[in-house]
Formats: sequence, C-alpha cells, structure tokens
Amino acid sequence: MLTPHAIAALNAEHATSDPKAILRAAFAQWPGAELSFSGAEDVVLIELASKLLPRVNAFTLDTGRLHPETYQFIERVRVHYPLDLDVLSPDAAQLQAFVREKGLFSFYEDGHEACCGIRKVAPLRRKLATVDAWISGQRRDQSPTRADVPLFEIDAAFSTPDHQLIKINPLANWSSADVWNYIRLFDVPYNSLHDRGFISIGCEPCTRAIGPNQHEREGRWWWEEATIKECGLHKRPPQS
Ligand code: ADX
Ligand code: SF4
Repeated sequence: MLTPHAIAALNAEHATSDPKAILRAAFAQWPGAELSFSGAEDVVLIELASKLLPRVNAFTLDTGRLHPETYQFIERVRVHYPLDLDVLSPDAAQLQAFVREKGLFSFYEDGHEACCGIRKVAPLRRKLATVDAWISGQRRDQSPTRADVPLFEIDAAFSTPDHQLIKINPLANWSSADVWNYIRLFDVPYNSLHDRGFISIGCEPCTRAIGPNQHEREGRWWWEEATIKECGLHKRPPQS
C-alpha cells in the first residue's frame, strides 16, 4: 500500500518528466498496469507504451452507443499495435432492466449519470478490481473538473478498503496541441470524426461537433453544466 506521502514524492520526482518517463516509472512499479483507451490521448499512450513493452495491455468500455467511426478506430488501433485489448460490455440484465424502465434516451431528460453508471462505471469497476494500477489520458486543460489532475494518485473512486488502486495520468501536463503534434509527427491512428469537427468524443447521442473557439468539452453532454460533465470514470475527492 502506498501512503499519500509516497504518492506526493512520486509526483514531485516526476513533476517535469515527459510522458514516456512517467510510463516507464509506472510499469516498473506496477507491471500489470492497464491503459484505458477511448480517444486520441490514449493512442499516444499506447504508442509510447509500445516502445517500452513487448505487448501492451489496454481495455475500452464499449457502451453499445459509440459511433461507427469509433468502432472502426478501436479496431484499427487494436491491429496496429502489439495490443491485448479487452473490450468491456455492460451487464446485459442490468442494462435490459434499465432500458425497459427508462428507454434509450433518458439522459436528455434526467442526466447522464444513470446510463453512464450502467454502461461505463460498472464495467470499469469490475475491470479495476483485477488490477493494481490503471493509466488514463486525462489532461488538466481538458475541463474545469480536471484542473488539478496529478500524474500519480490513489484512485479515491475505485479503491476499496482491501484493494488500493493507483491511477496514473501521464499526459496531465500536456495540452491538446501537444497531443496533436505528437499524433501528426508519429503518424498515430486517430478517430476519423476528428476531421469533422469533433474534439472530445464519447457516446454518439452525447457527443457533437463544436464550432470555432468553443471549448472541447462543449461537445459532450451539451445540455448539462460544465462542472458536472464527468461520467463517473474520473471522480476525485474535493481538493483543499
Ligand atoms: S469521459 O469521462 O468524459 O468520458 P474522456 O472522454 O474525457 O472521459 O476521456 C478521458 C480518459 O478517460 C481517456 O483518456 C481514457 O483513459 C478514459 N476513458 C474515457 N472513455 C473511455 C472508454 N469508453 N473506455 C476506456 N477508457 C475511457
Ligand atoms: Fe449513456 Fe450518454 Fe453516458 Fe454513453 S455518454 S453511457 S449514452 S449517458
């Protein structure tokens, strides 16, 4: 078990490290760490991890509501890299009961939490119970809710009293421009929706293209407030 003090020391040690060095340190300490993959940032991490490991372990949450382009992108990444990818599905009985009760678009009426809870958070919780550490592509400049994202953290949302879970965010200090410069420089595969005005991409009914000068998160759950635009994957305790 790492203490908060040990995590603080890791963050201090790597404050100016590049993402590859952060990944190297993460895999040295948690060899079973898995990458959570859905977007452009995550492929950058897969590309970097593939330079460090013979095979990379990743998972993606298949909500059943992704764009066709996203499924094609996931498959392209799966075959492009030496990747062992778990495509995680929601629990069929739980989902069926939910849709029977609320229909297929309840999130427009009463918010995305319940649907994300079944399609994303529950499968993620099942996956995270099997690993000691996971790696996400979150960036601080992505959203007001992510302004304090650290490089290394004890995952307050998914740790349990007998299972400490570490979360690593190697791109926390990167901007969107850094990510896209890397993608272009190294010819990293990306979702074709990015060529059609989409920036942050989630499920099809909850994602839309944005216009000039809009923030990337404005295309996600656009009917909700910016401060609640998290689906439960990345809940953090309030910062003092
Ligand atoms: S979300 O919580 O709003 O959906 P976002 O799309 O910004 O998240 O992605 C942030 C990080 O969350 C990604 O870099 C990835 O690590 C993880 N993530 C988001 N969606 C998924 C998914 N469907 N499957 C796996 N990981 C995901
Ligand atoms: Fe459901 Fe939308 Fe959340 Fe996808 S993003 S799980 S469709 S509420």
